[in-house]
Amino acid sequence: MTITHNEFAALWQLDKSIAYLNHGSYGAVPVSVQKIQNAFIDRANSNPNHWFRYELPQLMIETRHIVANWFGVAPEHFAFVPNASQGVVTAIQSLVDDATSRNQRTHLVATSLGYGGVLYGMQHIAARSNATYAVADVVYPHDVTAEIISSRIQALLPANGEPIVVVLDHITSETGVLFPVDDIISAIRSTHPQAKFVIDAAHSAGMLEHPLPANFDVWVGNLHKWLCAPRPAAALICGSPEVRAIMKPLAPSWGFEDGFPTSFEWQGTSDYSAYLSVPAAITFQEQWSYAQRNTHNRAVADGAADLLRNAWGTTNHLGNTVEAPWLRMVQLPVAEPLTKPQIDLMVERAGLELNTECMCMTVRGKSYVRLSAHMYNEIDQYENLIGITRLLA
Ligand SMILES: Cc1ncc(COP(=O)(O)O)c(C=O)c1O
Repeated sequence: MTITHNEFAALWQLDKSIAYLNHGSYGAVPVSVQKIQNAFIDRANSNPNHWFRYELPQLMIETRHIVANWFGVAPEHFAFVPNASQGVVTAIQSLVDDATSRNQRTHLVATSLGYGGVLYGMQHIAARSNATYAVADVVYPHDVTAEIISSRIQALLPANGEPIVVVLDHITSETGVLFPVDDIISAIRSTHPQAKFVIDAAHSAGMLEHPLPANFDVWVGNLHKWLCAPRPAAALICGSPEVRAIMKPLAPSWGFEDGFPTSFEWQGTSDYSAYLSVPAAITFQEQWSYAQRNTHNRAVADGAADLLRNAWGTTNHLGNTVEAPWLRMVQLPVAEPLTKPQIDLMVERAGLELNTECMCMTVRGKSYVRLSAHMYNEIDQYENLIGITRLLA
């Protein structure tokens, strides 16, 4: 099957023999950004002693300033972390440890649309830190309103003023929904002013024009997804000096005594080139205005969703649910919900036999494909998915 590519596709390293329709899971690195990263790796390898002792520390500080500035936050409130999973868990553990140091027990609350890895992390933090852990049930897609989500969370919160940490996804992972985080935060703060909010914003940087909500305690977002930085690169941003004073890396090392963000800057001998390449990723994406990226990616995502719904005779199940700008969920034409092994096999076969990489999942008894769209995608690439369920045979 021939895959057509637009004029932007050459800017990415992606294999041109495939249609890459799953930018949302792991991002995709542009050629120019990879060149910058390679140059940093070459510098490190040409003289590791000089690199780690004299070049890297200053470069890390400079890069932090550039990227914090791009987000519009103070560099003192910004640290690089490897990925959203680690960053969110780090933030939660810091908040729990702070409460523990005051002999208080923390109540952790997430929603059922939260990212599975983060939910596991919360469960384990609760177990090892004597915190409680509860999940507010939010049914995709019809429960995704600020009123329903905040009231489901509020129903789980203690009435006695004990510390609370609520984890909210900005854009949900499996279901591609844009959460009304500002409204949820305001509603919960009105009844539980002590609640701290950790925003799992794995998908926000690059996809949302304003990736930071108006109000948050800690924001953690991947830079290696929609911003197209090399992997792994993510940001942890503190919403206030109070929160900044209690953020600690999971594995304290050199610089720990200097506090956030210096305590995050040296995590032992490692490859820091992905972080150093984030400014190049910002420059790459800024060759287009946000409006240009948004127009193209939304048109492709909407056009692809319509194409598949028409071909499959499935309807748009979303009602008034607000989708993430560049992600679309389309229900698959299957009589029974697919099991995880069925999905894994179908998606692998789509890659091998249809030259098409995609992401599928079953949520609440219905199976979907989650479509991603970035500048290198065009609507006709998604035609390859029309026959995907034939691969179940
Ligand atoms: C909401 C959310 N949180 C966390 C993650 C995990 O990202 P990472 O694997 O980069 O840690 C994802 C990944 O898709 C996600 O969508």
